[in-house]
Amino acid sequence: MYQIYPLSWADSNRDGFGDLPGITAHLDHLAGRPDSLGVDAIWLSPIYRSPMVDFGYDISDHCSVDPRFGTLADADLLFGEAHGRGLRVLLDYVPNHTSDQHPWFAQSRSSRRNRYRDWYVWADPGPDGGPPNNWLSAFERTGPAWTYDQATGQWYLHSFTSAQPDLNWRNPDARAAMHDVLRFWLRRGVDGFRIDVPHRLGKHPELADNPADVAALRRCSQLDERRHNSMDHPDGHDMMRRIRAVVDEFPGRVLVGEVGVHHPQRRLAYHGSDGDELHLIFDFGFWRNPWRADAFRAAGARLARWPDAHRWPTHALSNHDIRRHATRFARAAEDGPDTLARVRVAAILLLTLPGTTFLYYGEEIGMTDLAVPAAHVHDPDGRDPCRSPMRWRSGPGAGFTEGQPWLPTGSEGPTVAGQDRDPGSVLNLYRRLVRLRAGDERLRLGGYRLVDSDPDVYAFLRLASVGAAARQGAAVTGRAGDPAGRLLVLANFADQPRQTGLDRDAESLPGQGVLLAGSGQRPAGVRIRLTDLVLCADEAMVIEI
Ligand code: GLC
Repeated sequence: MYQIYPLSWADSNRDGFGDLPGITAHLDHLAGRPDSLGVDAIWLSPIYRSPMVDFGYDISDHCSVDPRFGTLADADLLFGEAHGRGLRVLLDYVPNHTSDQHPWFAQSRSSRRNRYRDWYVWADPGPDGGPPNNWLSAFERTGPAWTYDQATGQWYLHSFTSAQPDLNWRNPDARAAMHDVLRFWLRRGVDGFRIDVPHRLGKHPELADNPADVAALRRCSQLDERRHNSMDHPDGHDMMRRIRAVVDEFPGRVLVGEVGVHHPQRRLAYHGSDGDELHLIFDFGFWRNPWRADAFRAAGARLARWPDAHRWPTHALSNHDIRRHATRFARAAEDGPDTLARVRVAAILLLTLPGTTFLYYGEEIGMTDLAVPAAHVHDPDGRDPCRSPMRWRSGPGAGFTEGQPWLPTGSEGPTVAGQDRDPGSVLNLYRRLVRLRAGDERLRLGGYRLVDSDPDVYAFLRLASVGAAARQGAAVTGRAGDPAGRLLVLANFADQPRQTGLDRDAESLPGQGVLLAGSGQRPAGVRIRLTDLVLCADEAMVIEI
């Protein structure tokens, strides 16, 4: 799946903001042509009408398209064009909150007796006249999760900015209205949704304080065994099941959840006890991996082990909320000439590890974060640098816009045009890997087994034999003596060349194999001797053995 941040992908009308016609015009980049990236699906961050306080995650009309992005007709056209290329389309669904400019909230705040009052979470002041409890907003600078409404003398809850009041999912009318939002888009043909912070729906029914020792932890990522009362309440699972039931009214659709719960069991619980909640859940641990073989080894083990047929792992290294991995993993400039070497290794891992891969626009050319001058900062949580516009070609506007871009495009850096015909480019490595994966059941569904190797070299096998079992829920461990036709993936995390140190006997590895894709200079198709193989610094390979 390929995540598009619509504000930043392609601007068709020179207003400096990306838009839906821009996306439609650039779909060839993703699918439908021999030189397309070859992804199966796109996920669009929010496209709905929004005051853009949180850049679309504050929605003021769920069943419209923000004029910056175009019209509903533009959306229909985009869905049709995408489907015509075999691309599925996922939208972002933001159930936890709306914009404070949403007509529902205008009604709700107008009077305590308004019939929309209970659609949001209102509470009387605490004993000291302050906020009703000690819950905090998730954004570092915004303080308590409550704002006082002078007119009606109560506080409203907002887990994020004060412009994003939380909906009350215990209210049946609010729930039904939000279910109808799903149906509205499903009827227009969307193939599913990425659900924004689903773990936030379930809150303590009495709005009890968070335990004192966790009250200071704003971010769900800091949760472990200890529970917040402000999120991940068990009642949230019923809310998720109902969302899933609506989506199941439409065959073949998918739900991906951004479950920001660090504790693995509690995160995975959002698949539902019987696979009746989310199909897919982002693996927060994966994108936090530091650039070390042992970290990726541990992540690989986690991806390869899922307990039943209802769960399926995912992995991503970048998105619109975190620093791009090309920036996080960059070596100090003096360390080496090829700053994109690690991006290439990461691409090989992303597209050969078990599970569904999520790519973030621009990573396929190695885009890095772009610093935004203080005067031009937009985002309340400091995330502008990873949202800089797609770099299609060099020159002002980078092919993203002919107007004034809403965020800097950078005057230099990788471009699609610059990499298009260069066989050694990051773009062409991604293209090769996506296609390899699409045509190879071992990579999509097959088993996984770690291979003993040098500590700095991450080595694993993808196996043919346990794909079917995996689909039925067996752990993907494989067995020694797996039939022929295995893939060996090797990644050297050291900044020095390394002998692989493969334990060839334990895995009955042959003396040689054929390179299917590599991050370095060696061309695909060459024979690779495993007996004395030395990987260059930051080099990875996929070898058929
Ligand atoms: C999710 C989104 C993020 C947004 C927040 C509030 O974490 O990914 O961009 O700011 O939810 O909706």
